[in-house]
Amino acid sequence: PARLVVLLSGTGTNLQALLDAIEGDPEGYGARVVAVGADRHGTLGAERAERAGIPTFVCRLGEYESREAWDAALTEAVAEHRPDLVVSAGFMKIVGKTFLAGFGDRFINTHPALLPSFPGAHGVRDALAHGVKVTGCTVHFVDDGVDTGPIIAQGVVEVTEEDTAEGEAALHERIKQVERKLLVEAVGRLARDGYRIEGRKVHLGHVGE
Ligand code: GAR
Repeated sequence: PARLVVLLSGTGTNLQALLDAIEGDPEGYGARVVAVGADRHGTLGAERAERAGIPTFVCRLGEYESREAWDAALTEAVAEHRPDLVVSAGFMKIVGKTFLAGFGDRFINTHPALLPSFPGAHGVRDALAHGVKVTGCTVHFVDDGVDTGPIIAQGVVEVTEEDTAEGEAALHERIKQVERKLLVEAVGRLARDGYRIEGRKVHLGHVGE
């Protein structure tokens, strides 16, 4: 199976969805999580990993003298686990040049909006503030922009009157329900079937097929 390193900053429900899918079909899924990294201590996501017996590491920006030094340390910590794919699942940091040079065509992110609309740290809030009637989630490869890389898969979620009243949290929760399935499916397909990136297009299936 393909080796996955998952990066996160928070609750890690997307990580949990991956772990559940793998546990449900260890042979068939095509990938396994070999390590989980966080940008801070004490995340629920890292706790989930530890519970599943998966090694964790923390790489805190504040502990390095520069962003470049942090980026190099993160690259090294991830490389140690020899990943085939690196998944940013709620990792709320932008990686730098060193990381992208190491994992550029193997680094995927999940974002809670329909890119290219509403990139950045507040995708759900920004979509709601804009008054859109549909939003969703996007799984994409990471390039050197913010949420601008080639799109792998998207899921759609309708915005309701209640979302407008109740705000970000209710809508984000519904997006995450779609997002977890989308991520599990996308990672599994990339791992099992292979892929090739051509400009902005992601072609699933074995290279040369
Ligand atoms: C997810 O909705 C993910 O798309 C979002 O954080 C959440 C993490 O949830 N990421 C971003 O907003 C990145 N800009 P989780 O910790 O429960 O998996």
